[in-house]
Amino acid sequence: MQQRKITLDENQIPRQWLNIIPYLKNPPAPYLNPQTLEPASPEDMAVIFPEALLQQEMSTDPWIDIPDPVLDFLSIWRPTPLVRAYGLEKALNTPAKIYYKNESLSPAGSHKPNTAIAQAYYNKMAGVKRMTTETGAGQWGCALSLCCNHFDLECKVYMVKVSSQQKPHRLTMMRIWGASVTPSPSDETEAGRSILAQDPDSPGSLGIAISEAVEDAAKRDDTKYGLGSVLNHVLLHQTIIGLEAMKQLEQIEIEPDVVIGCVGGGSNFAGLAFPFCVEKSAGKDIQIIAVEPTACPTMTKGVLTYDFGDTAKMTPLMRMHTLGHDFIPPGIHAGGLRYHGVGPLISCAIEEGLVEPRSVPQTSIFNAAITFARSEGIVPAPEASHAVAAVVDEAIKAREEGKEKTILFNFCGHGHFDMTAYESYFGGKLIDYEYPEEKVKEALARLPKLA
Ligand SMILES: Cc1ncc(COP(=O)(O)O)c(C=O)c1O
Repeated sequence: MQQRKITLDENQIPRQWLNIIPYLKNPPAPYLNPQTLEPASPEDMAVIFPEALLQQEMSTDPWIDIPDPVLDFLSIWRPTPLVRAYGLEKALNTPAKIYYKNESLSPAGSHKPNTAIAQAYYNKMAGVKRMTTETGAGQWGCALSLCCNHFDLECKVYMVKVSSQQKPHRLTMMRIWGASVTPSPSDETEAGRSILAQDPDSPGSLGIAISEAVEDAAKRDDTKYGLGSVLNHVLLHQTIIGLEAMKQLEQIEIEPDVVIGCVGGGSNFAGLAFPFCVEKSAGKDIQIIAVEPTACPTMTKGVLTYDFGDTAKMTPLMRMHTLGHDFIPPGIHAGGLRYHGVGPLISCAIEEGLVEPRSVPQTSIFNAAITFARSEGIVPAPEASHAVAAVVDEAIKAREEGKEKTILFNFCGHGHFDMTAYESYFGGKLIDYEYPEEKVKEALARLPKLA
């Protein structure tokens, strides 16, 4: 029998996260205070984040210890298997070897609990009683609900309205873990009310939901905010994925030629890819591909500059690829990839030539998702299907070129709550949307003017 899964023992779970910052040629630009536009001080950010996470955000240590209570919880589903996609290889008739890290096995169904548990832990240690957050696809909201429940913290989730309509069962799941969930924009915050005054039918966006969650946290002494992506500490917590994958590939004495992940804010991509970026920066020949939707083409059409992380301009400004903080993407079915910006560290990695961005249209990703589900058995989340679509393209290219490449990708989540999206696909209702260049230019004209 062919060996399909490469597994690790629980005692082989990595004990440290890998910080990419010391390996970058240029350190990331500082965050700016949204009022003064001067570099943000740790005190500016301490209103919404506990100190331990802020230290990680700024750290230049290459390795950061994972606390035991976090490891203990991670062992519910970690180490995740590295799986050889024999079925997909056969379906594509490719000489490429395809491997994926199955992050859909966490209780919430995606990679998101890898950071949610660390964030809940550091907040608990800091004496915080309640956390707020936003969610797009619902995966992050579920992850934080799960992990707040573990550490006995209250959890309040602002869920992008269009996603809450597409995926009502995600809402219920968050409630099972004890969270309270509000569709966003809502009338519970000033940020939400001002959006509703302009557009009562606003579908919402991650940028708006972040504004609501940040405002809520900033107003209460017992509350802090947790972000599911973008920030350095979130990407750091996800590196456990790539570190495990490296151990697994070592076991079978294989090195990847191509590493692929989808990008919303960049956390699952960074989680798998950053350890390989470090090898690439030391001279290894690896192609590392970051995939996004053509409907929200942050890395491929956006501009690398300072912008706010949210619509109401409450978060610090970050230097990142952006489509403009007031960008409201079309209601495509990959809710987790509808974000106007991207993690500043992803932008650095693109700038340094370590990572190659690419965009794919919605119908291609669903074609790829169906091929994957029929050949490998697992139904992918629309977000994960962006990575699958790029894998399919690379595997076909390998066939055409007659090359035996090894492709590694992050299977970042299952799509069990995405049946509305799959129904639209079968009903022929999915439209491909190419975000127009003029719209990008218009939005960029509204970016903050820095001296
Ligand atoms: C399954 C899944 N994949 C990917 C993403 C995108 O986030 P990130 O780029 O941080 O991995 C999300 C976000 O909600 C998600 O739910």
